[in-house]
Amino acid sequence: MSERLEGRVAIVTGGARNIGRAVGERLAAERALVALADIDESVTQTASEIGGEAVGYVTDVSSSADVDRLFDDVLDRWGTVDILVNNAARVIGAVRHFLEADEEWWDGILDVNLKGHFLCALRAAKVMAPAGRGVIVNTSSGGATRAHRGMTAYDASKGGIEAFTRAVALDLAPYGIRSVCVVPGFIQQPWQDDQRVAASAATVPLGRMGQPADIAAAVAFLVSDDASYLTAATLAVDGGMLSQQRSPQVESFPVSGFPKV
Ligand SMILES: NC(=O)c1ccc[n+]([C@@H]2O[C@H](COP(=O)([O-])OP(=O)(O)OC[C@H]3O[C@@H](n4cnc5c(N)ncnc54)[C@H](O)[C@@H]3O)[C@@H](O)[C@H]2O)c1
Repeated sequence: MSERLEGRVAIVTGGARNIGRAVGERLAAERALVALADIDESVTQTASEIGGEAVGYVTDVSSSADVDRLFDDVLDRWGTVDILVNNAARVIGAVRHFLEADEEWWDGILDVNLKGHFLCALRAAKVMAPAGRGVIVNTSSGGATRAHRGMTAYDASKGGIEAFTRAVALDLAPYGIRSVCVVPGFIQQPWQDDQRVAASAATVPLGRMGQPADIAAAVAFLVSDDASYLTAATLAVDGGMLSQQRSPQVESFPVSGFPKV
């Protein structure tokens, strides 16, 4: 593992499990000092398990008081923030038909997914601007550009995150701060059985579901100096999902008809 993030201070939200945990693990392996923040108390246990130097903070990213506490504590501990990975999202409870939507459901999802990105990015930017450097990575979804059924609030929040990424990039570029967005594809979840994984994998051009480590590897690149000319960009890490016109199941030229080599 490279040491390209040696000594950089990183905050990863939604870091208790899955993608956020894998991102924290990867950044720590590349020698960053990592603060995992999550509303789930298991985040402190996760921080003790990922290796390297990592601390867990129980934080609700939709609460400015919690976000302030998180940043104040990280600044006390390590003196700066170089990297913010906005990954936390309310995914559970996000599926509801639009005819059954209500204000509480909408606000609950937008507050975590979109306002949470804003609150953390704002605190991060205020530390990064005087330092003249920093990277903010936001986390979108294919739902930002191709709708999921029954996920109007989630998809709207993700569309907002992509627009937010670009707008923040323009405002912060003169201060040496980059703002980029990662779009995970179909990422395998621990609770998915083999049948579900195989069915999902068959819809992906690269023929497999993604792993949290696939997203973590892309994020590690985005926050490193290897990506120093990259800002306002949205990077799909999805095995080609978003680029296909039709799923392979209804494709008129199926993969089974491709030349044998
Ligand atoms: N898994 C996928 O296939 C996939 C696909 C596209 C996009 N994404 C995005 O990737 C990110 C991570 O997804 P995941 O699959 O690991 O989701 P997940 O639900 O497993 O993890 C999300 C984490 O965010 C935390 N969280 C929720 N509300 C919070 C709050 N108010 N404050 C702080 N933390 C909070 C949860 O406790 C959880 O640990 C999300 O932004 C999600 O929208 C995931």
